[in-house]
Amino acid sequence: MNVEHAQNHTENHAIYSAGYQCPSNIALVKYWGKKSGGVQLPANPSISWSLGDLYASTVVHALPRENDQAFVFTLGGVSKASFEPKIASFLTKIASDCPWLIDFTLHIDSQNNFPHGTGIASSAAGFGALGLCLAHIEQLIHGAPALDGRVNNMDFWQRSSYLSRIGSGSACRSMFDKPAVWGLSEAVNGSSDLFAVPLDGEIHPDLQGWKDVVLIVDDGEKSVSSTDGHALLEAHPYAGARFGQAQKNLGLLVEAMRSGDVQRFIAIVESEALQLHSMMMTSLPYYLLMRPNTLAIIEKIWQFRESSGLPLCFTLDAGANVHLLYDGKIDKTLMNFVNTTLLPYCKNGQYLCSDTGKRPAAIV
Ligand code: PMV
Repeated sequence: MNVEHAQNHTENHAIYSAGYQCPSNIALVKYWGKKSGGVQLPANPSISWSLGDLYASTVVHALPRENDQAFVFTLGGVSKASFEPKIASFLTKIASDCPWLIDFTLHIDSQNNFPHGTGIASSAAGFGALGLCLAHIEQLIHGAPALDGRVNNMDFWQRSSYLSRIGSGSACRSMFDKPAVWGLSEAVNGSSDLFAVPLDGEIHPDLQGWKDVVLIVDDGEKSVSSTDGHALLEAHPYAGARFGQAQKNLGLLVEAMRSGDVQRFIAIVESEALQLHSMMMTSLPYYLLMRPNTLAIIEKIWQFRESSGLPLCFTLDAGANVHLLYDGKIDKTLMNFVNTTLLPYCKNGQYLCSDTGKRPAAIV
């Protein structure tokens, strides 16, 4: 991989740099709830597709530290104080994993290629990209050939995934072109709570090359953050049942993806989306992130699938927007449906399109 990195030696120390473009991802089986103890460990396994066309681009320069400043953050070259607490907390959490951080001030510049305020989870792409940059710099510092050496017995992608996870759980699944599985599951070889792994084995051609249209229903701030939403699972009356369902659904979904059972795939993905939102509606306190147009779009999708018989389904993130997943082979028909039928339900007619299954790329 052609990673540009600078090693300009100052008096005693080197300056290390890395840059990555990292996709966002959409979960098919949802991560919702954390294990108690440990740092950001999932209560159940999840699986996602990366959204290669919705990504963060991040460049990090690690300069020898001259004061107590751990990092400087800019968003597209402009200071963004509101992002600083999350990054500060992330760097504190990984301090024991990355003792080298204490010797450097990180100059982090990041930006997303999708508009802010569209309700798209930017933390997965953002922390994914940051984890990749840190894992890369770490390898440079250790003198290991970039993208080749192992740190703490993890290869580069596992280590990037591991570090990203600590920033934002779902971010750890943004590292692979194959479906990414995070969380221990008997159905997936090598699966771990600590980092995501690419799904082993062949995926049936009918479940490759799918695409995602994100229909923007609401572009405002969520009324309950994901962090608070996860925490509500701790005392949730249905938590145990949900975690069991997710385990089971992961096994069934993996089986469907390997065998090409598109109908079963669709049923599990849609059920997972509704289970996620059911857990929100039955949390104490309860809350609701779907909006009237979320439901209107879901019903239109169901009607269209019923009448056309085409391979498509919806899923939801922790928000009001609808992700319309479909086999890329029906792109033209699908986009016609979106533009004629779904557009009126989208806020200011906004939607975003992405391929699935692209992995991060090094950037200058
Ligand atoms: O990564 P977090 O803490 O923002 O949690 C995100 C959880 C969902 O997006 C709702 C589901 C998932 O698995 O991505």
